[in-house]
Amino acid sequence: MTTKTFKRPDGRKVDELRQPVLAKVGIVPNADGSAMFQTGKTIAIAAVYGPKKMHPQHSQNPEKGTLRCTYNMNSFSVSDRIRPGPSRRSTEISKITEWALEPVVMLEKYPNQVVDVHINIIQADAGTRCAGINAAAIALAHAGIPMKDMISSVSVGKLDKTLVVDLTKEEEDFEEGEGPTDIPISMTHSGEITHLQLDGKINSEQLKEAVEMAKKACFEIYEIQKKSLKESVNLEDAE
Ligand code: CDP
Repeated sequence: MTTKTFKRPDGRKVDELRQPVLAKVGIVPNADGSAMFQTGKTIAIAAVYGPKKMHPQHSQNPEKGTLRCTYNMNSFSVSDRIRPGPSRRSTEISKITEWALEPVVMLEKYPNQVVDVHINIIQADAGTRCAGINAAAIALAHAGIPMKDMISSVSVGKLDKTLVVDLTKEEEDFEEGEGPTDIPISMTHSGEITHLQLDGKINSEQLKEAVEMAKKACFEIYEIQKKSLKESVNLEDAE
């Protein structure tokens, strides 16, 4: 069972997102769609380019378009500078991001074409893949790519025996008792899970509880994503 009295280092309740939770649309003017998403000290920027013809030609899929995500953690995003360029970790997260978003993107409208999503983490304090997915989902909608639903993403963690949402790096490094288990989860607004990773140990009861906590948090994130898109439409109307 979740211990409701568990003290988080930053004093948050177990089901509370980090503050601020912010989303802003249209921050990369040259992109076809763009967005920033932030929780606490983790900030992701996503820029969408396309749909455009896929090159090289042999990579084209005549049945449907390709969603190509590139996740990058900037060197200066953490205190120990990261070596620039692709890594095993960034390649994995790029794939995970594609899989999390693909189920809602109507790629059948774009045979032989590609939609490129570039995600940059400009500041990292854990949960960057989730922030990147949140930013990318907003940026795709902003680019006018037809989607069946929005995708929202959050990380649920088990610290020893306690479940908490939206972990900081300090919490991810928790070492007491059973240690940390990190469970990033992405889902549609209707609650269909499109991505779940599990790094650590958890029993099935607690996993169900973790999914329920993620649902509640994703619902809150969805409202912020929706608001940012509405604000961008109002701004464009006013111009
Ligand atoms: O960021 P996310 O939780 O999705 O992925 P992770 O691989 O579990 O990384 C957790 C955190 O560790 C990152 O958000 C960074 O704060 C930190 N990190 C780092 O300092 N240096 C790296 N090369 C990779 C991650």
